Amino acid sequence: MKALILSGGKGTRLRPLTYTGAKQLVPVANKPILWYGIEGIVAAGITDIGIVISPETGEEVKATTGNGDRFGAKITYILQDQPAGLAHAVKVARPFLGDSPFIMYLGDNLIEKDLTPFLDDFKSHHLDALILLRPVENPSAFGVATTDEKGRVLQLIEKPKDPPSNLALVGIYYFSSTIHEAIDRIKPSSRGELEITDAIQNLIDFKQDVESRIIDGWWLDTGKKDDLLGANQIILDTRLQSSVQGQVDDKSQIIGRVQIGEGTRIVNCSIRGPVIIGENCHLENCFVGPYSSIADRSTLIDVDIEHSVILQGAKLENIHQRIVDSLIGRRAHVLPAPKRPKAVRFMVGDDCQIELV
Ligand code: G1P
Repeated sequence: MKALILSGGKGTRLRPLTYTGAKQLVPVANKPILWYGIEGIVAAGITDIGIVISPETGEEVKATTGNGDRFGAKITYILQDQPAGLAHAVKVARPFLGDSPFIMYLGDNLIEKDLTPFLDDFKSHHLDALILLRPVENPSAFGVATTDEKGRVLQLIEKPKDPPSNLALVGIYYFSSTIHEAIDRIKPSSRGELEITDAIQNLIDFKQDVESRIIDGWWLDTGKKDDLLGANQIILDTRLQSSVQGQVDDKSQIIGRVQIGEGTRIVNCSIRGPVIIGENCHLENCFVGPYSSIADRSTLIDVDIEHSVILQGAKLENIHQRIVDSLIGRRAHVLPAPKRPKAVRFMVGDDCQIELV
């Protein structure tokens, strides 16, 4: 069994962060989203992993994630030179996959449940495909399935205007090598992409065994800011362990589950977990409230923040309003000056959103 993680795409819904970085590397609780997927796959016993990358962000994904040693896996990078669809990515990965069955995992998805029980079902029932489904309120934004009472899949449609059910395709699929024949038989969709949804529908049309399982627990598709903040909250809630390294002075107060990395200095701060602060940060005169993730090398001075994600090297100083529900990019500076500013001065990049509330 192998795994194929898709880590290309343009990440348009997370702009501006994705102008300069891969959406799969945006951190959740200070760890790239992509790494949760790799860890889940390795936990299911699969260590031969291909990652499909794009020309735009592939080098960054490679440099950050490496050859797999840190996960106890072997990672092979596969370049998809154009965003021609998920089934196209499988086609490009064919030399890596050979005739092996595989899990296909969309690199910006996170699920609570582990992958092993579904893998066991897929193997023991000798299925051609097993898909995971989840009821959602906005099925038109996803691939949508209809199934019979035993979970056999009857029909699949990608982003239908008029959805036949509320069951969305979670971005995790189990395939046997018959999927390659189906991909060879399909044509690009109206948006010009080879859709994996069409390939699975083609398997059904050819009377192959395609089953589904409905997952419970959370499923996070981290493509947008609020989804990302939601994912950050859930991961901090469920997986954060307390560990304080670095230096915390005796005027500071730390309450609840808080993780602080090496080389970080905390001076006269109040930190109320769950909170994660990376390495080599400097925080002074701050309140850091629940569900905040502050990445390595950030500086926060005279700042009051909660439920926010700060990326590496950001600098926030003298902000006299509480910062909430915010996502601040790498090396961004937020620096208003006096107590009651008469004016604000911005240099804001394309597609940024500033809300003064
Ligand atoms: C892709 C798939 C879709 C699936 C979704 C899950 O859509 O095409 O069928 O429901 O992932 O995240 P995308 O998010 O790339 O638009």
